[in-house]
Amino acid sequence: MGVIRAVVKGYGHYLPERVVENAEFAETLDTSDEWIRTRTGIERRHFAAEGQKTSDLAVEAAKAALAKAGMKASDLDAIILATATPDQTFPSTATRVQHAIGMKGGFAFDIQAVCAGFIFALANANGMIQSGQAKTVMVIGAETFSRILDWEDRTTCVLFGDGAGAIILQAEEGTGTGADRGVLSTDLNSDGRFNDLLYVDGGVSSTGTTGVVRMQGQEVFKHAVSKLAACGDTALHKAGLTAGDLDWIVPHQANLRIIKRTAQKMGISMDHVVVTVQDHGNTSAASIPLALSVAASRGQIKEGDLLLLEAIGGGLTWGAAVLRW
Ligand code: UT7
Repeated sequence: MGVIRAVVKGYGHYLPERVVENAEFAETLDTSDEWIRTRTGIERRHFAAEGQKTSDLAVEAAKAALAKAGMKASDLDAIILATATPDQTFPSTATRVQHAIGMKGGFAFDIQAVCAGFIFALANANGMIQSGQAKTVMVIGAETFSRILDWEDRTTCVLFGDGAGAIILQAEEGTGTGADRGVLSTDLNSDGRFNDLLYVDGGVSSTGTTGVVRMQGQEVFKHAVSKLAACGDTALHKAGLTAGDLDWIVPHQANLRIIKRTAQKMGISMDHVVVTVQDHGNTSAASIPLALSVAASRGQIKEGDLLLLEAIGGGLTWGAAVLRW
């Protein structure tokens, strides 16, 4: 029986110009390139320039995705933007992007699921497309995590970077099998008991300040490996597929050791894993769309490839999606 599938029509990304190598942190902190590289896989990250906002990064990624799809802003019905670092408390960063790219109709809103934000946004876009609420949806992940880092905390500030990635999904008739292009399944989870493991110590209704990132790294690490492997398996099961069917895992790019252990747990060789963490660091909600766009641009991911996307972040919040590119 025919079903509606949300099929990728375009993709794009943007990284701020300023590149910060690990060694730069060693000038002000008791850390080293060696520690950061061996414990995380990170070698460098991009930081937004002074005055450069999350929406500025998102707009560049959005324009690149429209160009790749051969579409105009007016072809979009909706923008869903995942971020934990919005320009303003309100209105949404998505509406700023909507205006900046010249999209006059439709609707735009933000989703906040921190590092898992892109998966949550993708699942929402897929639901809207499958229910007929929208036909063409741009899904963006964009962050300026450099704005919420404690530069004296070596356990967190070396881990994150800024960037944005976007994809455009459009409704297409599929056969209802795993051979279809588009989003084939999603799996979303959160468990608020673990709020204290990874959070920002400020907020509108609590301190009235923005706050900075706090994390119990080792605890998050342990949850990450088990929860990512489990939700990856669940998403594959929902799609009627197995790990052996995958061409690529495109994981959240937080730590190379988490990426390797998760792949190992799922029985997938690293030859089938997209890794960009060395160049971007952890860009939170931007990490997966950035990795997708970079890998597709260099011809690593090709049309028809079967992908598993998976991410975990503060909440804890985690999820996965199976997508045929
Ligand atoms: O995106 C959301 C999801 N987030 C994540 O997935 C992050 C998950 N966690 C991690 O990636 C890792 O736990 C970290 C990279 C954050 C830390 O790596 P670790 O191997 O778990 O290190 P650790 O926390 O056990 O720390 C080991 C040592 C400690 O020193 P002592 O107590 O053994 O003397 C830390 O103080 O490394 C020290 N350390 C550092 N040393 C040099 C922590 N940060 C640094 C640093 N440079 N930047």
